[in-house]
Amino acid sequence: MSAQTNLIYLVAAVLFIFGLKMLSSPRTARRGNMLAMLGMLIAIVITLLDRQIISWPYIMVGIIIGSAVGYIAAQRVALTEMPQMVAVFNGLGGGASMLVAFAEVGPRVLRLETNPELYLVVTIVLSVLIGTVTLTGSMVAYAKLQGLLTGAPIVYRGQHVVNVILIVVCAVLGIMMAFNPSMWLLLVLVFIIAAVLGVSLVIRIGGADMPVVIALLNSYSGLAAAATGFVISNNVLIISGALVGASGLILTKIMCVAMNRSLANVLFGAVGTAGGTGVVSEEEKKSVTRYTPMDAALMLENAYSVIIIPGYGLAVAQAQHVLQEGAKLLMDKGIKVRYAIHPVAGRMPGHMNVLLAEANVPYDLLLDMTEINEDFKDTDIVLVIGANDVINPAARYKKGSPLYGMPILNADQARTVIICKRSLSPGFSGEDNELFYDDKTMMVFGDAKKTVTDITNILKSA
Ligand code: TAP
Repeated sequence: MSAQTNLIYLVAAVLFIFGLKMLSSPRTARRGNMLAMLGMLIAIVITLLDRQIISWPYIMVGIIIGSAVGYIAAQRVALTEMPQMVAVFNGLGGGASMLVAFAEVGPRVLRLETNPELYLVVTIVLSVLIGTVTLTGSMVAYAKLQGLLTGAPIVYRGQHVVNVILIVVCAVLGIMMAFNPSMWLLLVLVFIIAAVLGVSLVIRIGGADMPVVIALLNSYSGLAAAATGFVISNNVLIISGALVGASGLILTKIMCVAMNRSLANVLFGAVGTAGGTGVVSEEEKKSVTRYTPMDAALMLENAYSVIIIPGYGLAVAQAQHVLQEGAKLLMDKGIKVRYAIHPVAGRMPGHMNVLLAEANVPYDLLLDMTEINEDFKDTDIVLVIGANDVINPAARYKKGSPLYGMPILNADQARTVIICKRSLSPGFSGEDNELFYDDKTMMVFGDAKKTVTDITNILKSA
């Protein structure tokens, strides 16, 4: 590889690093994304120009088909289905690394034109192992999130032992391959066992833990790519793979901390359910008071301070624009309005930030849980729009609940809580929410967009 190529790869790597750094704040995330995309474009173009990989017609056909599929998929996917799309991307990334490693076995190892160096055999095995686990694990994650498989953990007796045995067998096969590089059948065995391992590892993860797994699989896809970078001696692939691997791990850690869970508990604990059951006891139903948007609007315009808590239902209803309009009307009346963002509100990391940014909510009104949690006790009204688990007090004390230990927004400490959702159904965790039945809570039932539109219209006419 020429010095110029390496220099341009370095430029691409620097763009990736700055892009990633900028993704850490909603204020700079869009520009960060553009920078990283520019870095990737440079890396791809230089790789194509520098190397005679395959003939140009094949490359062009690949680019056209790939771009078309990517463009259409990204246009059509709903924001709430983004985790599934990320799962597919992770899986394909892992699968690509595995295929490239297999492709390299032919010229470099099988034919034994040269005696392959140890690092090459090791990285080929790692590419196939991690890439395949990522591929099949991501397919299972996709099926669970899409409802094709049950969202609850699928467990069987001795699952941990089976997983450990599969990992050990892969390691042994890898070592055997290192000593006998020409035995390419060993690599096929690694592929088969890794495929089973990916399925077995992910099926036992359930419910609200799926996003953590998606972040972890993202990290795996990066590690597989980095290993493949060594296989084909491509520096930019090594760097970008390492960046994906590291950032995926950091995101995984952040999400575990947000849910107050260890990674081991997420991966091996088999907690979580398939989602809300919607079943509420008759006794609970009786104790809820139903309020109207008019009641809510009257309360809101007489408040001094309001904290809005957005959740998954806001995204489903696509009520972010009208919510922003209503919040602005309140602020115009001199009421202090802020948004409280829980790290796992919605269905993907940063979901609420993306949603509210789309509606042009000023970034300085968006406060993280740690920044705002102490303020609830001095707040007149908490307006909850389609959020549930992130305000469920069961997380604080109910051992055995899928939510137990997850830090929540202290909505229950405000003077009045207005909750807008369609029913008394539980959230993603399946855990009923006692806050609905609290004396200080006003339940306003209905689709979030309709409810918030009604409240906003009343505020406008007041
Ligand atoms: P949830 O606890 O899932 O609650 C969302 C609520 O929105 C539901 O109870 C539902 O009640 C309501 N809703 C749905 N459609 C609605 C509509 N059209 N109008 C009004 N309300 C609507 O959401 P959350 O509080 O945002 O918590 C997120 C949960 O998802 C957590 O358990 C989290 O661990 C998990 N999770 C998070 C992520 C990430 S990374 N953010 C990814 C996957 C899972 P009704 O049916 O009664 O309307």
